[in-house]
Amino acid sequence: MTAQLNPRGDVAVLVPAAGAGVRLGPGGPKALRLLSGESLLVHAVRRVAAAASVRLIVVAAPPAGVDAVRAQLAPVAPVVVVPGGVHRQESVASALAAVPPEIAIVLVHDAARALTPPEQIEAVAAAVRAGRPAVIPVLAVVDTIKEVDPDGYVRGTVDRSALRSVQTPQGFRHDVLAAAHAAAADPLTDDAGLAEKAGIPVTCVPGSELAMKITRPLDLVLAEALLRAPQDPARVRWPP
Ligand code: C5P
Repeated sequence: MTAQLNPRGDVAVLVPAAGAGVRLGPGGPKALRLLSGESLLVHAVRRVAAAASVRLIVVAAPPAGVDAVRAQLAPVAPVVVVPGGVHRQESVASALAAVPPEIAIVLVHDAARALTPPEQIEAVAAAVRAGRPAVIPVLAVVDTIKEVDPDGYVRGTVDRSALRSVQTPQGFRHDVLAAAHAAAADPLTDDAGLAEKAGIPVTCVPGSELAMKITRPLDLVLAEALLRAPQDPARVRWPP
């Protein structure tokens, strides 16, 4: 069933989905790899469309696959599809250009975080709505982290209590994200990094293990297992 977006919503969600997915092994663009018979992008967009304040979804597709992505997403939700760029940052900038100025909040969400719960999307948007200019969902780091030199010698142990791993969606006031992208010099792997460079305070909300980034072959196996579990206490499947 095609989702309806909220015409009175104040949130646009950009979904960069133009990456090659080299770390996932051979098999085409990562966002179009199948998980339980549907692409990662379809899973991601379905959950974005279920977030109550989302008015617009813009997907940055692999340039050669714009029509195919449009066709794939048509039954899922109304989306705007634009061609992505060589770097993620260019894909985000292309998608951002399609957001009209009257939408106050812009979220950037990786297609690779296909199982992100709609509640996480709403929580990030709510924090921006409450006055935070830039918001990221984070998890505590569970492993011990070492700094290692190029020869494999340990330089030191990093204080884990101050570290967080960062997920998406990352949320911004529209004007803040536009200014951060306009000022960007080098490509970074996340948009909050651009805001930090521009001197914007970035704050955190709790992330979710379900928002894991499906990057390596084992991640796909785990995601498949979660979707097929007989019970669904964590509400991995959507709709529930
Ligand atoms: O490569 P990485 O895992 O950091 O990519 C994160 C997200 O950015 C993925 O959803 C990927 O499709 C997207 N991406 C993009 N354009 C690129 C590179 C990555 O839209 N040129």
